[in-house]
Amino acid sequence: MTFALETQDLTIRFGGHVAVNAVSCGFQPGTLTAIVGPNGAGKTTYFNLISGQLPATSGRVLLHGRDISHASAPARSRKGIGRAFQLTNLFPYLTVLENVRLAVQSRAHVGLNMWSVWSSHKDLIARAEEVLEAVALASKRDIPAAALPHGDQRKLEVGILMALEPDVFMFDEPTAGMSVDEVPVILELIRGLKCRKDKTILLVEHKMDVVRELSDRIIVLHNGSLVADGEPAEVIASPIVQEAYLGVEVKK
Ligand SMILES: Nc1ncnc2c1ncn2[C@@H]1O[C@H](COP(=O)(O)OP(=O)(O)OP(=O)(O)O)[C@@H](O)[C@H]1O
Ligand SMILES: [Mg+2]
Repeated sequence: MTFALETQDLTIRFGGHVAVNAVSCGFQPGTLTAIVGPNGAGKTTYFNLISGQLPATSGRVLLHGRDISHASAPARSRKGIGRAFQLTNLFPYLTVLENVRLAVQSRAHVGLNMWSVWSSHKDLIARAEEVLEAVALASKRDIPAAALPHGDQRKLEVGILMALEPDVFMFDEPTAGMSVDEVPVILELIRGLKCRKDKTILLVEHKMDVVRELSDRIIVLHNGSLVADGEPAEVIASPIVQEAYLGVEVKK
């Protein structure tokens, strides 16, 4: 069986420190896997290795069974790996709508000639507006991205990611820094992606209630190694998570 995404013995060393240590894991389409672990466990670094932001010291990344270990980050993104970066994807001086429209357009370019791109300009705008509705930013469509409050900028980033329609979505603490009333919008979007059943979703999240509610599976990283992998209830109850992650001392 071919996984949508798979890492094989994926490893990176920074000097003497092994930040991600021989992580082998496959991810099925239509599932949401939560990646948990203490601060410094290697979660963000694991994402950086998958998206190509960092070169692996050893090991492989496979997308739909094909080795993409040597592809650049932009090439991986074109192949269907989607990652929200904290605000670095935004064009600050363009409006909210223009930011999303560009993402829709870059997606629409795939397999289309210039004529059909221009002739479907109205469709691009319509799709961009649909995405803005979904991320609850329709009323802010004409504001430059740089002028948005932080929480709205994060929502816009998720909107851009949605517009790009990757096969694999990677969310690294997507609700960090958001006010309580903004969090449900993002969770609803992730829930919606899950319902589509064709997307592969990886979510790094510290809030265990969110993890419990959204995930089909949890993997635990600790000191760069994969130390637990399984059904959410089972992993949350495991001594390694109770002890190493939640800080609860488990009597042996
Ligand atoms: N570019 C780098 N150079 C050197 N060390 C790095 C680099 N990036 C990450 N590290 C180290 O790798 C380890 C893993 O960091 P990482 O950011 O992946 O942890 P994390 O699990 O995402 O933590 P958090 O929950 O705090 O976000 C840490 O010890 C960190 O200091
Ligand atoms: Mg991190």
